[in-house]
Amino acid sequence: MAPSNQSLLETPQWQALAAHYQRIRGTHLRDLFAADPARGERMTIEAAGLYFDYSKHRVNDETLKLLLALAEAAGLRDRIDAMFRGDRINVTEKRAVLHTALRAPRGASIVVDGHNVVPDVHATLDRMADFARRVRAGEWKGHTGKRIRAVINIGIGGSDLGPVMAYEALRHYSLRELTMRFVSNVDGTDFTEATRNLDPAETLFIVSSKTFTTLETMTNAHSARAWSLNALGDEKAVARHFVAVSTNAAEVAKFGIDTNNMFGFWDWVGGRYSMDSAIGLSTMIAIGPENFTAMLAGFHAIDEHFRTAPLARNIPALMGLLAIWYNNFFGAETVAVLPYDQYLKRFPAYLQQLTMESNGKHVTLDGATVNYQTGPIFWGEPGTNGQHSFYQMIHQGTKLIPCDFIAFDEALNPLGRHHDLLIANVIAQGEALAFGKTPAQVKAEGTPDWLAPHRTFAGNRPSSMIMARRLTPATLGALVALYEHSVFTQGAIWRINSFDQWGVELGKALAQKIIPELEAPDDPAMGHDSSTIALIRRYRRARQSA
Ligand code: F6P
Repeated sequence: MAPSNQSLLETPQWQALAAHYQRIRGTHLRDLFAADPARGERMTIEAAGLYFDYSKHRVNDETLKLLLALAEAAGLRDRIDAMFRGDRINVTEKRAVLHTALRAPRGASIVVDGHNVVPDVHATLDRMADFARRVRAGEWKGHTGKRIRAVINIGIGGSDLGPVMAYEALRHYSLRELTMRFVSNVDGTDFTEATRNLDPAETLFIVSSKTFTTLETMTNAHSARAWSLNALGDEKAVARHFVAVSTNAAEVAKFGIDTNNMFGFWDWVGGRYSMDSAIGLSTMIAIGPENFTAMLAGFHAIDEHFRTAPLARNIPALMGLLAIWYNNFFGAETVAVLPYDQYLKRFPAYLQQLTMESNGKHVTLDGATVNYQTGPIFWGEPGTNGQHSFYQMIHQGTKLIPCDFIAFDEALNPLGRHHDLLIANVIAQGEALAFGKTPAQVKAEGTPDWLAPHRTFAGNRPSSMIMARRLTPATLGALVALYEHSVFTQGAIWRINSFDQWGVELGKALAQKIIPELEAPDDPAMGHDSSTIALIRRYRRARQSA
């Protein structure tokens, strides 16, 4: 492992990659494919039902060897073992990072502070399953005796994005008689629209918050309480219409939720890694405990692949290393995630928190400022919609944007030729990006010289293709785990802590200071800059005249 006082950029492995980059940067994917007719089959890996094609990346065998040497030097293998073992690798919060324990099979043993946490995980899963079954079967009645027909998850960040994404992704498997909604934004519109047309007597709220102190979630939870009690007129109704998912029993009790109706998790589950903890209660209610268990099995299959497969055949490790290759050597600033499945429409939004809250860091584990780029910007939209929007830039713009395409062999909603057309498009996009269209080809089609530059595609634009047979709970679990471990791999190479999020604190603290300044009856004394003061005064005037 590289000595920690040696800058990453000074390591022989990094320098070898920098030198190699100079040699390969001009090489076109056309040449790489021409030189190796088997490339498209050779550079693929299958694991946990996923097919990963990385042949359309600007790498040759030497690149991969050097990237793997970088991973070895970073001690990736040891870091993986440390995470799975439950070491406190989240050093700034002094916590273990054990989302992998959330999907460990019953009977496994993962010891934290002398205690095997796996039985606790399964005890919670069992309670969740019992509750989910009762809600789904109409046995869990509301305060007036009516069955529950609508479930609203109130949460934000990791307590919202995972549940929303998973519900949308697995909607095909959901109990359609139940209306599932999600409220996250402190903008009152979110709550108002989510509760429109719902009967409080038939509505169950799941207040999901690891800390149970988050401003947005607690504000929405209090509005939900008022909305319920306004209609039901009895404090006792809270017990039938509110359950909590949290690590903070004291705050849950203070809110008035019976802690018997609380589903817990642990400080070793980060918010953005929590969709398969009790935070997934809404998912379980929607798709049922059996499907939830299948999703966990999908996560676990990739966990095992990441933990045991040699790095050269390890999909998340390679994804992470390729992200580093483009981010740090080609200077790419973003990664586009392009699922060709309408059910995955919230997957890019989910990945934004997972990737950017994890690796948007500017200091190393020991607090030194990095002198290299860390986490790229993740963004994306489902295909084929994106093709008619921003793909122009990916094909012909001046920025290099590596793409992850995700697609499935079988449609969940077969409809005429739709699926063939969808899949033809995703395959075509990867081909077009990689190989482009030369000026000679464009002219041979009869394009006049003046128009030819506009119609030329340089190609050499990299992409991964991730395919699976169909979008199932297990496939979704496997997909999410791929990205979790790719993020981990990147963080290990950059020597950063992928598991804290101090960067969200300052804005929260300043908002707390500004709230009373907006609401004070008389002009308050304010210690801000002139722009902030002018904005506060402007809003105060508008508020007073409204
Ligand atoms: O503000 C960021 C954050 O702390 C996320 O990391 C977390 O997922 C989210 O807020 C919600 O936190 P909680 O679950 O404690 O309400």
